[in-house]
Amino acid sequence: MKRELFLRHVAQTTDNPLALEFARAEGSYLWDMEGKQYIDLIGGINVCHIGHRHPRVVEAIKNQADKYLHTMVYGEIIQSPQVDYATLLANHLPDSLNSVYFTNSGTEAVEGAMKLAKRATGRTQILAFQHAYHGSTQGSLSLLGDEFFRNAFRPLLPGVYHLRHNHFPDLDAIAADTAAVVLETIQGEAGVVAPDPAWIRALRAKCTQAGALLILDEIQCAFGRCGSLWAFEQFGIVPDILLLGKALGGGMPLGAFIADRPLMHELAHSPILGHITTFGGHPVCCAAGLAGFNALLSEDMTSGVPEKEAIFRANLSHPAIREVRSQGLMIAVEFDSFEVNKGVIDRAIGKGVFTDWFLFNAQSMRIAPPLNISTTDIIRACNLICESIH
Ligand SMILES: Cc1ncc(COP(=O)(O)O)c(C=O)c1O
Repeated sequence: MKRELFLRHVAQTTDNPLALEFARAEGSYLWDMEGKQYIDLIGGINVCHIGHRHPRVVEAIKNQADKYLHTMVYGEIIQSPQVDYATLLANHLPDSLNSVYFTNSGTEAVEGAMKLAKRATGRTQILAFQHAYHGSTQGSLSLLGDEFFRNAFRPLLPGVYHLRHNHFPDLDAIAADTAAVVLETIQGEAGVVAPDPAWIRALRAKCTQAGALLILDEIQCAFGRCGSLWAFEQFGIVPDILLLGKALGGGMPLGAFIADRPLMHELAHSPILGHITTFGGHPVCCAAGLAGFNALLSEDMTSGVPEKEAIFRANLSHPAIREVRSQGLMIAVEFDSFEVNKGVIDRAIGKGVFTDWFLFNAQSMRIAPPLNISTTDIIRACNLICESIH
């Protein structure tokens, strides 16, 4: 009955949605309507990094709901959860990333950052990378590095060009007319692809030399996911604008673009209100995100990531697995084809392990569990995945 109504009245994005219904989620587990337990290996696609319904997050949501929900559109009035969260984020970021513009979603953060880059540089060209995913609104879609997914929606933004990832000569395209270069620090939907450290440093240098802004999209790879609080730390570079989303809200919808205050302040004049959002930085979402970030820090979930990554790698061993790519707990398990991968995923779901695949790398299984998943559950989940291969 619910399934029928879901298919009839909830807009669908594919012809064959999974259509599982979960009754409850807690920590690293999901339970369906029949009470069957699943180990959640994807955490709502890199959202639930501190586990589902972390008690500190739930408490913060309840406390904020008791005070106020929506009071005013973004920016004009002081909303404590926004101020406190922006301050905490700034305290854990390099000095030049000190001004936080909160949005509703990741893609809105991308849009805001693109506008800021154009406004601040007076330039219009934006460079992105092949196999990049930055969201689904038209600006972000213009940056998307896959013709299959963007072609039906043309015309997209003019002045957007795609470079080859990890390709040194293509960096020569960054020039005096480039407003910004947008890069996922670790490419997610490409199937967990890391930059060559020398290449990303050369990219940073080239942007500085050309006066182009480097925008790093850490919507999927931040908050300890890759074994450091921010993925860019591992490469010894700092972006001009940092994009956050997903885990930023502790399970609630929240995005942000973050820059140095004088740069960000360009959105406050000529014209004023350079980016407007009604719900961006919603107080309940900021309260939840703040509590989630405090939980991540105080429970030191990041430091255990490399060891858990190693346990996954050691237990994901099977002749049918072509490759395991990982950056901390952002893991891609590659099979021969999408068909093989989908078969394994479906059987694993049947056995109580919840995973999926990547948009541009459908032959790879996505693994991005809560960072506080237990080692026992990692081993159990890996065994069940291996048993699902035949
Ligand atoms: C790297 C990256 N950037 C941007 C986005 C867009 O975020 P949202 O879906 O919140 O708009 C995503 C979402 O998957 C993402 O993975």
